[in-house]
Amino acid sequence: MKSGTTARSASRTAEYVALVRQLAGFDPYAHHFVPRDYAAVGAVLERLDPEGRWADRIALGLNCAIRTRHRWLDCLLVEAVAADAQQVVLLGSGFDARPWRFADAIGERPVFLVDHPATAAARAERGPDEAANVRRVDVRFDEEDFADRLDDAGFDWAQIAIFVWEGVTMYLPRDVVASTLQRIARRAAPGSRVGFDLVAARPSADQPLRERITRRIMAAMSEPIESAFAIDEMAGFVERCGLEPQRIVAAEQAPGGEGAWPDLYLVEARVPDTP
Ligand SMILES: C[S@@+](CC[C@H](N)C(=O)[O-])C[C@H]1O[C@@H](n2cnc3c(N)ncnc32)[C@H](O)[C@@H]1O
Repeated sequence: MKSGTTARSASRTAEYVALVRQLAGFDPYAHHFVPRDYAAVGAVLERLDPEGRWADRIALGLNCAIRTRHRWLDCLLVEAVAADAQQVVLLGSGFDARPWRFADAIGERPVFLVDHPATAAARAERGPDEAANVRRVDVRFDEEDFADRLDDAGFDWAQIAIFVWEGVTMYLPRDVVASTLQRIARRAAPGSRVGFDLVAARPSADQPLRERITRRIMAAMSEPIESAFAIDEMAGFVERCGLEPQRIVAAEQAPGGEGAWPDLYLVEARVPDTP
């Protein structure tokens, strides 16, 4: 979904990542959100390629990167709520099933699902009922201040939170990525954590054919990559946004990430203690 102004239907990439999770077998809620055309492809793949080896090859590591990213951020979320996070914010939540999958770990902590209104509406229409602690926050990141919308939904900026912003930064202009992270850094309680992913920018001469094809696939889903970051500038970018980078890991080096699309990087950052 490139721009909130024109998008009227649910994000195709949100549907695609739900399909990948369904095929991987670790998201029992994903099937609610997979549209008919993707489900048909999924059914064929499940029959012909139950291990997902060919699908991984055809998708040039993208599916592996999507699975690895989700597992990595699962761990971050579970660790954060077990430690000190009192609130959960899923930015660009799409069809993320964590409020159902981790209902026990999250307990009664409020969960804020922040997403584009078109995708949020599709989630409400297609998915199971949300638990009482889940609050829907409709936002267009490129047009509105998500922090104001969180205020309206009852988010408590004084309490430690875990923010998960998965699979979204690459579809937004760099200044929107920066301003979103800056708002978290300025307003969230010290010790709050942010998990997100960034796409690596490489000079096109260094970019093998398979990377170029992967980017074309995303563009074909009408959600082209809008922002990418040189690998050695990622930490500095996070710091300039006011956050402390804790870990920046290539998806292909994260657990289960062997063969993943090499341009996807996973980031954990922390809101610093006030001086
Ligand atoms: C690849 S999906 C990821 C969904 C979810 N985080 C997951 O991993 O399953 C991208 C998400 O970003 C949201 N998104 C993209 N552009 C947006 C914008 N300008 N404002 C709000 N949400 C946006 C889409 O609605 C979609 O839910």
